[in-house]
Amino acid sequence: MSKVSLIRLSLSGFLVIAVLTQSANAIRTPVVLGGKSDIPNVQTNIEIQELGRYCVEQFNLMEESEQGNAASIANTAVLNPLNFSRVVSAQKQVVAGLEYDLRIEVTQPDGTSRMFDSIVFIQPWLHSKKLLGFTPVASPVY
Ligand SMILES: *[C@@H]1O[C@H](CO)[C@@H](O)[C@H](O)[C@H]1NC(C)=O
Repeated sequence: MSKVSLIRLSLSGFLVIAVLTQSANAIRTPVVLGGKSDIPNVQTNIEIQELGRYCVEQFNLMEESEQGNAASIANTAVLNPLNFSRVVSAQKQVVAGLEYDLRIEVTQPDGTSRMFDSIVFIQPWLHSKKLLGFTPVASPVY
Protein backbone atom coordinates (compact mmCIF):
# COMPACT_ATOMS: atom_id res chain seq x y z
CA MET A 1 0.00 0.00 0.00
CA SER A 2 1.34 3.41 -0.80
CA LYS A 3 0.93 6.79 0.74
CA VAL A 4 0.40 9.22 -2.03
CA SER A 5 -0.22 12.91 -2.23
CA LEU A 6 -2.65 14.85 -4.30
CA ILE A 7 -1.45 16.73 -7.29
CA ARG A 8 -4.39 18.24 -8.95
CA LEU A 9 -3.88 20.35 -11.99
CA SER A 10 -5.95 23.37 -11.25
CA LEU A 11 -8.34 22.88 -14.08
CA SER A 12 -11.57 22.78 -12.17
CA GLY A 13 -13.14 25.95 -10.99
CA PHE A 14 -11.39 28.02 -13.55
CA LEU A 15 -12.33 29.26 -16.91
CA VAL A 16 -9.45 28.88 -19.24
CA ILE A 17 -9.03 31.59 -21.77
CA ALA A 18 -6.98 30.20 -24.55
CA VAL A 19 -5.62 32.24 -27.36
CA LEU A 20 -4.41 30.07 -30.13
CA THR A 21 -1.87 31.29 -32.58
CA GLN A 22 -1.21 28.58 -35.04
CA SER A 23 0.36 28.28 -38.41
CA ALA A 24 -1.89 27.93 -41.40
CA ASN A 25 -1.06 24.25 -41.69
CA ALA A 26 -1.72 23.37 -38.07
CA ILE A 27 -4.82 21.47 -37.13
CA ARG A 28 -7.16 23.82 -35.39
CA THR A 29 -7.67 22.86 -31.80
CA PRO A 30 -11.27 23.19 -30.73
CA VAL A 31 -11.46 25.39 -27.67
CA VAL A 32 -14.80 26.01 -26.09
CA LEU A 33 -15.23 27.69 -22.75
CA GLY A 34 -17.81 26.91 -20.18
CA GLY A 35 -18.73 26.08 -16.63
CA LYS A 36 -19.31 22.80 -14.94
CA SER A 37 -22.51 20.96 -15.68
CA ASP A 38 -24.15 17.90 -14.19
CA ILE A 39 -24.47 14.89 -16.43
CA PRO A 40 -27.96 13.40 -16.17
CA ASN A 41 -28.85 9.68 -16.07
CA VAL A 42 -25.31 8.64 -15.20
CA GLN A 43 -26.37 5.11 -14.22
CA THR A 44 -27.44 4.32 -17.77
CA ASN A 45 -24.72 6.30 -19.52
CA ILE A 46 -22.38 3.61 -20.88
CA GLU A 47 -19.71 6.10 -21.91
CA ILE A 48 -19.53 7.57 -18.41
CA GLN A 49 -19.57 4.14 -16.77
CA GLU A 50 -16.69 3.05 -19.00
CA LEU A 51 -14.85 6.25 -18.13
CA GLY A 52 -15.26 5.36 -14.47
CA ARG A 53 -13.92 1.88 -15.11
CA TYR A 54 -10.94 3.47 -16.88
CA CYS A 55 -10.22 5.65 -13.82
CA VAL A 56 -10.18 2.66 -11.48
CA GLU A 57 -7.98 0.66 -13.86
CA GLN A 58 -5.55 3.55 -14.20
CA PHE A 59 -5.44 4.00 -10.47
CA ASN A 60 -4.70 0.30 -9.95
CA LEU A 61 -1.93 0.43 -12.58
CA MET A 62 -0.38 3.48 -10.95
CA GLU A 63 -0.48 1.89 -7.54
CA GLU A 64 1.11 -1.21 -9.01
CA SER A 65 3.96 0.54 -10.79
CA GLU A 66 4.64 3.26 -8.19
CA GLN A 67 6.77 5.21 -10.60
CA GLY A 68 7.16 8.85 -11.48
CA ASN A 69 4.20 10.93 -10.45
CA ALA A 70 2.00 7.92 -10.99
CA ALA A 71 1.19 7.52 -7.34
CA SER A 72 0.54 11.18 -6.80
CA ILE A 73 -3.15 11.38 -7.45
CA ALA A 74 -4.64 10.16 -4.22
CA ASN A 75 -3.74 11.52 -0.82
CA THR A 76 -4.75 8.55 1.26
CA ALA A 77 -3.47 5.02 1.28
CA VAL A 78 -6.08 2.67 -0.06
CA LEU A 79 -6.45 -1.06 -0.35
CA ASN A 80 -5.48 -2.33 -3.77
CA PRO A 81 -6.58 -3.41 -6.34
CA LEU A 82 -9.98 -1.81 -6.43
CA ASN A 83 -12.83 -3.32 -8.42
CA PHE A 84 -14.99 -0.88 -10.32
CA SER A 85 -18.67 -1.03 -9.37
CA ARG A 86 -20.29 2.02 -10.94
CA VAL A 87 -20.17 5.78 -11.40
CA VAL A 88 -22.82 7.28 -9.14
CA SER A 89 -22.65 10.90 -10.29
CA ALA A 90 -20.75 12.95 -12.84
CA GLN A 91 -20.10 16.49 -13.97
CA LYS A 92 -18.29 17.77 -16.98
CA GLN A 93 -16.50 20.98 -17.84
CA VAL A 94 -15.09 22.23 -21.08
CA VAL A 95 -11.53 23.58 -20.58
CA ALA A 96 -9.58 23.22 -23.84
CA GLY A 97 -10.70 19.64 -23.55
CA LEU A 98 -13.22 17.98 -21.30
CA GLU A 99 -12.85 17.56 -17.60
CA TYR A 100 -15.06 14.97 -15.97
CA ASP A 101 -15.60 14.74 -12.22
CA LEU A 102 -16.90 11.28 -11.44
CA ARG A 103 -18.03 9.83 -8.14
CA ILE A 104 -17.16 6.15 -8.43
CA GLU A 105 -18.08 3.19 -6.31
CA VAL A 106 -15.48 0.42 -6.06
CA THR A 107 -15.10 -2.85 -4.22
CA GLN A 108 -11.93 -3.13 -2.17
CA PRO A 109 -9.90 -6.34 -1.87
CA ASP A 110 -11.60 -7.08 1.44
CA GLY A 111 -14.97 -6.99 -0.30
CA THR A 112 -16.19 -3.75 1.21
CA SER A 113 -17.32 -0.92 -1.06
CA ARG A 114 -16.00 2.61 -1.04
CA MET A 115 -16.57 5.88 -2.92
CA PHE A 116 -13.88 7.84 -4.74
CA ASP A 117 -13.99 11.24 -6.39
CA SER A 118 -12.15 11.05 -9.66
CA ILE A 119 -11.05 13.71 -12.14
CA VAL A 120 -10.30 12.72 -15.71
CA PHE A 121 -9.25 15.08 -18.49
CA ILE A 122 -9.87 14.24 -22.12
CA GLN A 123 -8.59 15.90 -25.27
CA PRO A 124 -10.20 13.83 -28.03
CA TRP A 125 -8.32 15.50 -30.87
CA LEU A 126 -5.02 14.55 -29.22
CA HIS A 127 -6.30 11.08 -28.30
CA SER A 128 -5.32 12.02 -24.78
CA LYS A 129 -6.99 10.84 -21.59
CA LYS A 130 -5.46 11.53 -18.19
CA LEU A 131 -6.44 10.68 -14.66
CA LEU A 132 -5.82 13.82 -12.61
CA GLY A 133 -7.36 12.88 -9.31
CA PHE A 134 -8.61 9.85 -7.43
CA THR A 135 -9.48 10.58 -3.82
CA PRO A 136 -11.52 8.61 -1.32
CA VAL A 137 -14.74 10.29 -0.27
CA ALA A 138 -14.44 10.99 3.45
CA SER A 139 -17.86 9.74 4.44
CA PRO A 140 -19.78 7.54 1.99
CA VAL A 141 -22.73 9.28 0.39
CA TYR A 142 -25.30 6.95 -1.09
C1 LIG B 1 -12.49 -8.25 -8.15
O1 LIG B 1 -12.57 -8.71 -9.49
C2 LIG B 1 -11.86 -9.90 -9.73
C3 LIG B 1 -11.90 -10.15 -11.22
O2 LIG B 1 -13.20 -10.09 -11.71
C4 LIG B 1 -12.47 -11.02 -8.90
O3 LIG B 1 -11.76 -12.21 -9.11
C5 LIG B 1 -12.40 -10.64 -7.43
O4 LIG B 1 -13.05 -11.62 -6.65
C6 LIG B 1 -13.05 -9.29 -7.19
N1 LIG B 1 -12.81 -8.87 -5.82
C7 LIG B 1 -13.77 -8.40 -5.04
C8 LIG B 1 -13.36 -8.03 -3.65
O5 LIG B 1 -14.92 -8.24 -5.39
